[in-house]
Amino acid sequence: MSSVIVMGAQWGDEGKGKVVDWLSDRADYVVRFQGGHNAGHTLMIGNEEYKLSLLPSGILRKNKMAVIGNGVVIDPTALLNEMAGLQKRGVAITPDNFMIAENAVLILPIHSLIDKAREQLRGVGKIGTTGRGIGPAYEDKIARRAVRLCDLTDGAELKKQVSALVAHHDIFLKTMNIDYPSVDAMTDELLKQAKIILPFVKPVWRELDKADEAQKKILFEGAQGLWLDIDHGTYPFVTSSATAAGNAILGSGLGAAFNGYCLGIVKAYATRVGSGPFPTELLDATGELLGQKGREFGTVTGRKRRCGWFDAVMVRQSCKIAGIHGLVLTKMDVLDGMEKLMIGIGYDIDGKQYDYLPASPALQCRAKPIYEEMAGWQESTRGTRKFRDLPANAVKYVKRLEELTTRPITLLSTSPERDDMIMVEDPFVMANR
Ligand code: GDP
Ligand code: IMO
Ligand code: MG
Repeated sequence: MSSVIVMGAQWGDEGKGKVVDWLSDRADYVVRFQGGHNAGHTLMIGNEEYKLSLLPSGILRKNKMAVIGNGVVIDPTALLNEMAGLQKRGVAITPDNFMIAENAVLILPIHSLIDKAREQLRGVGKIGTTGRGIGPAYEDKIARRAVRLCDLTDGAELKKQVSALVAHHDIFLKTMNIDYPSVDAMTDELLKQAKIILPFVKPVWRELDKADEAQKKILFEGAQGLWLDIDHGTYPFVTSSATAAGNAILGSGLGAAFNGYCLGIVKAYATRVGSGPFPTELLDATGELLGQKGREFGTVTGRKRRCGWFDAVMVRQSCKIAGIHGLVLTKMDVLDGMEKLMIGIGYDIDGKQYDYLPASPALQCRAKPIYEEMAGWQESTRGTRKFRDLPANAVKYVKRLEELTTRPITLLSTSPERDDMIMVEDPFVMANR
């Protein structure tokens, strides 16, 4: 068995899409297991830029099976738009290379309306969600009133379900003066969409079990990052799913993945989009510079990402919580030319030192980083594909991050371009050890 789980170890946007696209060359199946179209994964293939939100990044390679697992929340309109956009660009998407779990939950138009209205009510305390209805859809799932893909086969039953869901949310929507599509309109639209989507819908757990029996290589593509995890993140400024590697199993139905190799993706610095604590955030010219050089604008909402120094304490915590075996360091090239680099190695909270980030939002907000300084490098690392070609100070930086996070850096990314990667160890080989 050979499975690799890719997950973000910071606040998302670490470069998971690029890493998954690169690794998918070695895989047979690429599986999304949580999140929805709040994710935005950008891939650069030659001069072509692809932005994927729901479709697994493996969809762009030939002869790979792209899979959306049951843990993902699916907005059918967003899914069909994304599929059509790629098909227009010549990407084949057929039931031979793409499947969706029959027990995945649907995001309906009211979910996005509720999401945005709640954010408005929160005012300054807003989470800064993507407004895509992710949280409300997961709430309905847990409350056992969600509509799922398998419900699209029976029009009469579907209408009853949509009607019950709307009845539940009606008071809030009416109080907030929000117009929303009628039950009939939503049901009719779903039935139209079902005609295109249903051929892709399968018992994914079974297909993955067969793949595993046939010793296929399975690559799991996480969305968001550990610090946006519903349990372990900077709650309440998090997303509504479990982003940690363990959810790859629950969100796909492949129990055997437990034996795989877990890769945590980290940027060589840190970014966050949306509200919430960010101890190593830089609100100065250096933060601006990182944002400009790293082109730190959200893929989904276009919002400017907040930037800061690499926080080794948080990444170490991610590794331990999620069972990350090795790290992938991306965007090394963005640090080229910096005179000095800071690494967060601890926090001072009200005069007390911490070697971890405690859960209380009040404490998290008051966490002042304790830094270690390192010399930067003036040479360009952009496009470097061999570890020995990295400048000496870049190597020192990598080694220090390994020590502080207690995990090896197995891959490095040195530009947005697909093949600009340095492989120290092959994660699929490691998965078999
Ligand atoms: P994801 O959500 O984790 O897949 O990350 P995003 O795609 O949202 O954001 C990462 C951004 O960094 C994308 O625009 C990538 O093209 C880009 N990127 C990925 N790796 C590198 C790298 O090594 N260097 C640079 N300069 N950009 C990178
Ligand atoms: P990828 O997969 C970065 C953030 C939002 C907000 C919080 C909750 O591209 O790394 P939600 O809409 O999920 O309820 O928003 O989570 N967020 C992300 N930030 N990358 C993402 O995905 C994100 N998905 C959600 O900005 O702060
Ligand atoms: Mg992203």
